[in-house]
Amino acid sequence: MPAFSRISAPAAALAVLSAVCMRGTVSAAEYTAVSPDRTIAVTVSDEGGRCRYSVMRGGEVLVRPSALGFVFADGIDLDGDLSIVSASRSSCDSTWEQPWGERRIVRDLHNELTVSCARRDGRRTMRIVFRVFDDGVGFRYELPAAGDPSDFLILGEKTEFALSGDDTAWWIPAFEDNRYEYLYTESPISAAGAVHTPLTLRTSSGIFLSIHEAALTDWASMALQSGAGNVLTCRLFPWSDGVAVRVTTPAVSPWRTITIAGDPGGLITSTLILNLNEPSRIADTSWIRPGKYIGIWWGMHIGKYTWGSGPKHGATTANTERYIDFAAKHGFSGVLVEGWNLGWDGNWFSDGSGFRFTIPHEDFDIEEICRYAAERGVYLIGHHETGADIDNYERQLEAAFSYYERLGVRAVKTGYVGNRTNEFEWHHGQYMVRHYRKVVETAAAHHIMLIVHEPIKDTGIRRTWPNMLSREGARGQEYNAWSGDGGNPPDHTTILPFTRMLAGPFDFTPGIFDLFFEGAGRPNNRVNTTLTKQLALYIVIYSPMQMAADLPENYEGHPAFRFIEEVPTDWETSEVLNASIGDYVTIARRERGSGEWYIGSITDENGRILAAPLDFLDRGRMYRAVIWADAPDADWQENPLAWEVTSTQVDAGDTLEMRLAPGGGQAIRLIPLD
Ligand code: NOJ
Ligand code: CA
Repeated sequence: MPAFSRISAPAAALAVLSAVCMRGTVSAAEYTAVSPDRTIAVTVSDEGGRCRYSVMRGGEVLVRPSALGFVFADGIDLDGDLSIVSASRSSCDSTWEQPWGERRIVRDLHNELTVSCARRDGRRTMRIVFRVFDDGVGFRYELPAAGDPSDFLILGEKTEFALSGDDTAWWIPAFEDNRYEYLYTESPISAAGAVHTPLTLRTSSGIFLSIHEAALTDWASMALQSGAGNVLTCRLFPWSDGVAVRVTTPAVSPWRTITIAGDPGGLITSTLILNLNEPSRIADTSWIRPGKYIGIWWGMHIGKYTWGSGPKHGATTANTERYIDFAAKHGFSGVLVEGWNLGWDGNWFSDGSGFRFTIPHEDFDIEEICRYAAERGVYLIGHHETGADIDNYERQLEAAFSYYERLGVRAVKTGYVGNRTNEFEWHHGQYMVRHYRKVVETAAAHHIMLIVHEPIKDTGIRRTWPNMLSREGARGQEYNAWSGDGGNPPDHTTILPFTRMLAGPFDFTPGIFDLFFEGAGRPNNRVNTTLTKQLALYIVIYSPMQMAADLPENYEGHPAFRFIEEVPTDWETSEVLNASIGDYVTIARRERGSGEWYIGSITDENGRILAAPLDFLDRGRMYRAVIWADAPDADWQENPLAWEVTSTQVDAGDTLEMRLAPGGGQAIRLIPLD
C-alpha cells in the first residue's frame, strides 16, 4: 500500500490529472497543467520517489523528465523517498500597469499547479508551484515553516533542464572573474560549460527557448552546467564558505523560467518574467520618471579626463556646470558625474575601502552644482563606485543616500568593479543578492532611482521596486573605449536583444558620434558601428533611462543629435518586426501618451535590406516618417559617418524598405499627421 493516500486533483477545466500508475507497492502520481491556449503542457511526477517535471509544446517534447529538489546540509533530502501528497490548481487572468516600461499594460494569464511533496518519514516537506503561460513556464520551490530552528542550509539545487537535443545556444560563461562582461558564443549546447542565464536556445525544430529566473530576492543566482545527454543542471553561486543558500523558513526560491516562442521576436515580447514578480512595494511612484542623461563619463573611458584629482580631473564644478547647461538646453533630465568623491586617488580597482560617499573632491562644489542644476530643471545623477568593498559601502549606505536626497539627487549609478566582492564573494551569490536588494530598498526610502553597474542579473524586480531603473550586466559601450580585443564586434548588439535583454533594461550607453576618438591615444579602439546604428540602439536596447554617452562637444551642432533629443524612453507598447539572432533585429515602439512610433533596426557586419511592414500604425491615419539611415556608401569599417535623413508620408498599408550598411542601422520616427 502507498505510504500516503493520494489526493486526486480536482477536475479543473483548464488542467488535467493525466495518470496514476502502479510501480510495485508504491504508486506514482503524475499531474499535468496546460497553458490557457493549451499549447504548452508541464507534467510533474514522483516516480521512483523523485520529483521530476517535463515540458511539451504542441506535442513536441522540449524538456524531458528533469530533476527537481535540493541538497540540504542536514542530509534530509527529498530524494528517492518522496511522494506528491497533494496537488491544487488555480488560474489567473488579470492585467496590471507598469509605471514605465516597454509596454504599459501587461496581461498575466496562466494556469497554476501546486504539488506538495513530502518524505515518507515526514521529516521534510516542500511545495513546487508551476505556472504555465501561453509563452512558457515558471516554477518555484516553497519551503514551509520548519518550526524551531527555522534556519537551515542548502548546499545545492538539483533542478535540471533535460533538453530534447543538442540545441543551438547563445551563452556567456559563468564562474569567471569578469562577471557578465563577455561576448556571447553561439554553439551547440554540448560545447558550452557553465553558463549564465538568460540562456537562449534554438531546438532543431526551430523553437526558441530562454532559461532564466524571476524574482531573485534572497537566494543564490542560478548558472547552468551543460552536461552529458544535453542536460543542463542548476549550479548556484555559493557563498565563500561553500553554502549555496541560507534559508529562514518559510521561504520561496526564485522562479525558474523557460520562455518558449516560435520565433526569436517572441522571446523579446514575453512578459512572463515580470508576471512572476511581486507587485510594486512603492505605492506612490510619481517620483520615478524615465528620462535621458549625459555625463562626465566617456571622457574618463577614453582618457580625456581622470576620475581622480589632478590636471585632467573631469568632475570639477566648472565642467559639471557646462554639462548642466548642455543638458538643460537639450532637454535631458540628468547629468551623471563620476569621480566626484574621495577615494579615486588610491588603487580603488583592487580596494574600494577608500571611497567616501559624502565627501566630494575639493574642486567639486556639490552644493553649488545641485543648486545650479535645480535652477535649470536638471538633476545631478550621483555615483557610488564601491570597488566591490561592500562593508565599506554598507557602513555609509544610509548616510550616502540621505546626503544625495538632501541635495536633490534623484538617481544614483552604483558600481561594483572587482572580481569578488569583499574579496571573497561572487557578485552572483546570495550575499550580494541581499546587498543589491538592501541598496534598492534604501534608495527607494530616499526617493532615489537606481542604475547599477556590475549588478546582479535582472530577474524582473523592477515590478516590485520600480526605482530599479536600469543596469549593466553585459559588455556595454565602454568596451569600445578600452577593451584589448578592440571592443564589441558588430554582431554583439544583434545578440543582446535575445539574451541579456530578456532579463530587463540595460544601461548600454549608446550614442557615440565620434566613433574614432582620435587623439585619445587608443589607436586600437573605436566604436565598431556606423553612426546611424548608434541612433537605432536607442530603440533596440531598451532602458527607461538612456544615456547620450558622447562628449557634449561632439553633439553640439551635429544634425544627427536631433534624433537623440527627440527619442522617448518610455513606451506604450513594443513589437518585433523581424529578427535573426546575431544577424539583425528591428523593433517598433509606440511612445507612451502619444500616437508616435519609433523603429530601430540594426545589423551585424553584413549589409542588408529589411522590410518594416507598418501594419501596427492606426488604420486610416497618415504619418510622416523621418528616416535616419546609413548613406548608400556607408560601411562600419570604411565609411561609418556617412548618414542621411529623409522624410516621407506613410500609412498602415505601407512597408518601408530599410537598407542597412554593413555594421549599420536605421532609426525612424513616425509622426501622425492629424
Ligand atoms: C565600470 C562601469 O561600467 C563604468 O560605467 C564606470 O565608469 C566605471 N566602472 C567606474 O565606476
Ligand atoms: Ca562595467
